[in-house]
Amino acid sequence: MRRYMITSALPYANGPIHIGHLAGAYLPADIFTRFLRLKGEDVIHICGTDEHGVAITLRAVQEGISPKELVDKYHERIKSDFEKFGISFDHFSRTSTPLHHRNAQNFFLKLHDKGYLYKRSMKQYYDPKMGRFLPDRYVVGTCPYCGYEDAKGDQCERCGRQIEPGELKDPRSALSGEPVILKDTVHWFFKLSDLKEPLREYVSSKDWKPFVKEFALSWIEELRDRAITRDLEWGVPVPLDDPDAKGKVLYVWFDAPIGYISATMEWASQVKGDPDAWKPYWMDPETVLVHFIGKDNIVFHTVIWPAMLYAHGDYILPTDVPANAFLNLQGRKLSTSKGYAIWADELVESVGQDIARYAVALYIPEKNDSDFNVREAFTRTNAELVDNFGNFAQRVLSFINRYMDGRVPEPKTLTEEDERLLKLLRETAKRYEELMLRYEIRLALREAVNLGAEANRYYEHQAPWKLRKGDPDRASTVLYVAFQILRGLSAMFYPYVPASVRRLWGYMNVSPESFSDLTTPNPDLAGHPIGRSEPLYRKVDEDKIRQWEEELRRRAEGREPESKGAEPRIGYEDFAKVKLRVAKVLSAERIPKTDKLLKLTIDLGDERRTLVAGLGHVYEPEDLVGKSIVVVANLQPKKLRGVLSDGMLLAAHDEEGKPVILTVEREVPPGSEVS
Ligand code: MF3
Ligand code: ZN
Repeated sequence: MRRYMITSALPYANGPIHIGHLAGAYLPADIFTRFLRLKGEDVIHICGTDEHGVAITLRAVQEGISPKELVDKYHERIKSDFEKFGISFDHFSRTSTPLHHRNAQNFFLKLHDKGYLYKRSMKQYYDPKMGRFLPDRYVVGTCPYCGYEDAKGDQCERCGRQIEPGELKDPRSALSGEPVILKDTVHWFFKLSDLKEPLREYVSSKDWKPFVKEFALSWIEELRDRAITRDLEWGVPVPLDDPDAKGKVLYVWFDAPIGYISATMEWASQVKGDPDAWKPYWMDPETVLVHFIGKDNIVFHTVIWPAMLYAHGDYILPTDVPANAFLNLQGRKLSTSKGYAIWADELVESVGQDIARYAVALYIPEKNDSDFNVREAFTRTNAELVDNFGNFAQRVLSFINRYMDGRVPEPKTLTEEDERLLKLLRETAKRYEELMLRYEIRLALREAVNLGAEANRYYEHQAPWKLRKGDPDRASTVLYVAFQILRGLSAMFYPYVPASVRRLWGYMNVSPESFSDLTTPNPDLAGHPIGRSEPLYRKVDEDKIRQWEEELRRRAEGREPESKGAEPRIGYEDFAKVKLRVAKVLSAERIPKTDKLLKLTIDLGDERRTLVAGLGHVYEPEDLVGKSIVVVANLQPKKLRGVLSDGMLLAAHDEEGKPVILTVEREVPPGSEVS
């Protein structure tokens, strides 16, 4: 048994979770963790919200609430988003806890005591209007190299050059739009330049994804000391008795990764009930420490955080950093601020947890950016999960229930084809496992899907429903083999679609044993009783796919939502086709042998008409006589219970669906137009 410490990047507590977050870190991390748990490894998966930094304070200003109110709100929201998506953290914490503040401060002090930190005065942009220092990227001005007028304080988007503070011409605050000045301020710097050698050695020794490793190595060559404090009132206060430390906090990227350790400590005392239980996960060199992140976090997790851990000295360094690229949506970049995304909660509400997980898993951007296309995602999910896996399960289990007394049959003679299938199961499981351990989550799923397709072909070809009468022994053998394959498939699908596979295990009456048990054909299963089964999934239908496409077009264009879901609007010309008029009810009577239908004679000004209305369960005929109602005058006449109804009366429908007729607010002549 191996010990694994798995983390997913701590999401900023400034917005809900969308499919880009999920595909980039949380879903692959959850799939990997669930696989390891099923393998029987000692594994914990830790996460929490990242609650400090400028981004949080700015978002709070935008929402007109305090940073504390903001992070409280999004901590709860994000936690519930993950729960809905079935992300099974062993613990989900946050960085604003007193425990974490203490840990981050102690970490800082340890580096300080060991001589890794020094104080230096520097010039920083300051917005006099807002009375605050600004990070370089919140300053805009003219590029000193190419003259581009909207260059950011740290980099010019036109010519791509790095810009140092002070180089930008006519710098303005991106927040207030006012000119900014350069002001002296004091910060603590981390002597990263001293650690170049050990870091190079560390990264070089790792078997990481090529793009991650190359990125880290090129960064190490350029390594410069970095300020790890900020002039900000929100964050972890700098824990020094130095007048210069007043009003300063730790840089959010210094405190946040320490949050992984704080959250593990919290897990130890709150979940495990053993305050020391976190230690082996962070201190034992045998532990495999894995950080799942998006590619914008690579530098921090492959260079700066390992440097912090190395300098601190008590902890192990990351074993693997399986970073992912970005996910786009319908060919566009996702954007929380522009509202262009599919949110975790709405996707689960729309198609259910496992269909949602499967669709997103298809697009995990393991090597390159990928593009989530709703039509393709749901079409493939319908084919691979619902048809291939779900249907196979249902066919096998219901056949056993219907024709084999609800027990896995005894196999008779195994043919070459049967043996081939069982062998394929073992080989597939082996390849799946190897891929999974290399974080090739998409390829591992391909293995499961291919085996599923093979199993369907086998079942279709053997056609046990035809053998049942003529060759019952053969039918028994086929169902025995099919059940073994299904059991193996269930283990391979489990990390991706855990809730439905748990249901399946219930139907199959197998307890979630280990991955290797489940994927090894087991002769003892002959005679094993199973339970009643139900279909595992429902397909995503064409209507729903169209609705999502339309909704995403709307979000891309920034149009306001249309009321009542995505009902299409009509132009006035369409409405004008409907002729509405006021009519007076002259007489009313029940139509015999019906309990609802009334026959009304109405006066439309220049003509009299008969119409039939389903009001009899709510109105007495005499209540209606004399009333001025509203009718559709140009509707095709229609025969109802032998009476020709020439027009339609308008009624609202109350909470119970009972009709409430429309009348006019003041008497007008019969036949008056309504528009
Ligand atoms: N909050 C950061 C982001 O969303 C990730 C922080 S990861 C941690 O990009 F290591 F700092 F915790
Ligand atoms: Zn430029």
